[in-house]
Amino acid sequence: MHCHIVPCVDDGAASLEEAVKMVEAEYKQGVRRIIVTPHFRKGMFEPSALEVKKQFQLLRKTVWEINKDIRLYLGCELYASEDMISQLDSRCAVAMAGSKYVLTELHEFVAASQVRRYLGLLLSDGYRPVIAHAERYECMRKDIKLIEDMIAMGALIQLNADSIVGKNGYAVRKFCKKLLKEGKVHFVGSDCHGIKRRVSRIGDAYDYICKKYGKEYADEIFVYNPQMILENARQRRAGIKRTI
Ligand SMILES: [Fe+2]
Repeated sequence: MHCHIVPCVDDGAASLEEAVKMVEAEYKQGVRRIIVTPHFRKGMFEPSALEVKKQFQLLRKTVWEINKDIRLYLGCELYASEDMISQLDSRCAVAMAGSKYVLTELHEFVAASQVRRYLGLLLSDGYRPVIAHAERYECMRKDIKLIEDMIAMGALIQLNADSIVGKNGYAVRKFCKKLLKEGKVHFVGSDCHGIKRRVSRIGDAYDYICKKYGKEYADEIFVYNPQMILENARQRRAGIKRTI
């Protein structure tokens, strides 16, 4: 539910060929459903909605011809700003698989007050923010109370597989372990960007969490919570008003 596999729209897959190899790598890690989440960040990554859709459909068609066990859905990793809602309204940025869940990225040194403000913007417009790689932000690592407050507000917490298995240093891993131990994690994403750099280690993270915290918790955050996003998207498509 967090990866950069759509070819040629951000700093992820650089070609269709690489994108297909990345999907194969996810498959080998045990993944069968993928919400792809190209960056949308003003001034840095601003692919047109049309281009993203075109590239996504090309990838989905190609993958379907190769492996019918995999399903792809389109989302976006939206960089938090005052313009978030207008970016979602104008479809420059999209929620995950057409659900109400928005994968939300913040500046590494964002202030806690600003985090609360951005979450408020999304929540008051009916979205559920999913904090992308929550382990990356200094204000959250320094104060776990902020994580608790965000969850109480209605946000959900995503960690990167790499951070859990220790690829981003000791302190980051320690923080991930603390959140996992306290049951404050809702999703794990591969956040993969390529086949040589920032590769998917999501299966490794799943195995680690199974071993350390139990299969029930691992399945909740790797299987059932992501399914909830897809179910919410289905309900919205069906016009059901009180969605999960
Ligand atoms: Fe990402």
